[in-house]
Amino acid sequence: MIGIISALNAELMEIVENLETEKVIYKNLIFYKAKIYNKDVVLGICGVGKVNAAMYTQAMIDYFNPKVIINIGVAGSTCKDVKIGNLVIGTQYFYHDFDCTQAGSYTLGEMPGLKDVKFISDENLVNIAYEKAKKVLKEDEIFKGIIATGDVFVAKKETKDFIKEKFNSFCCEMESCAIVHVCHLNNVKYLALRSISDNANEDADCDFETFLIKASKVVKSIILDIIKEI
Ligand code: ADE
Repeated sequence: MIGIISALNAELMEIVENLETEKVIYKNLIFYKAKIYNKDVVLGICGVGKVNAAMYTQAMIDYFNPKVIINIGVAGSTCKDVKIGNLVIGTQYFYHDFDCTQAGSYTLGEMPGLKDVKFISDENLVNIAYEKAKKVLKEDEIFKGIIATGDVFVAKKETKDFIKEKFNSFCCEMESCAIVHVCHLNNVKYLALRSISDNANEDADCDFETFLIKASKVVKSIILDIIKEI
């Protein structure tokens, strides 16, 4: 079983609508079971933010026992080379808003008890995603790199620059680190694919509205191809 999670309707429903699916409700959450290239897949929308993402991921794992979960969706760019419509394939994930620094010797994003834990995607999965993305995008439009997650829609250059400086991230969004954190604790492989809808600056809210659908289509166009291969 392969799990696919997005936060928003726009990021996933077009895929679901074109598949024959069975709707499963578990813990008041909706999941769509389907066969894609003869593989068992479960897809669903977790809602925005870390708690929604974590809860949905745990429920998906408990009910469907997927071997891998792929989070798809849009993100704000935190890096000047990463433009609207480009794709970021997550290699490592951080919480940019988890802050125990005032409690002593913690760095920003570091969780007590998880000091030596890194949330890193399987290299093979990352490479498969990169190869599939090359069919749709030019190489300079595809980035493998760090994704920063927080319960913040970033729409200030100052905040975006701070996140970039602290985490060397390519983009910021609101779910992937929570999803991969839960996957890590359950021994499930994970990957996040995020296409850029905005630049996480003062224009972000307007750009997000304008480019949400277009950016979502970028990821949608490669996810089926990835499922075929894994
Ligand atoms: N998802 C898309 N754009 C975003 C932004 N600017 N901040 C957080 N999450 C996002």
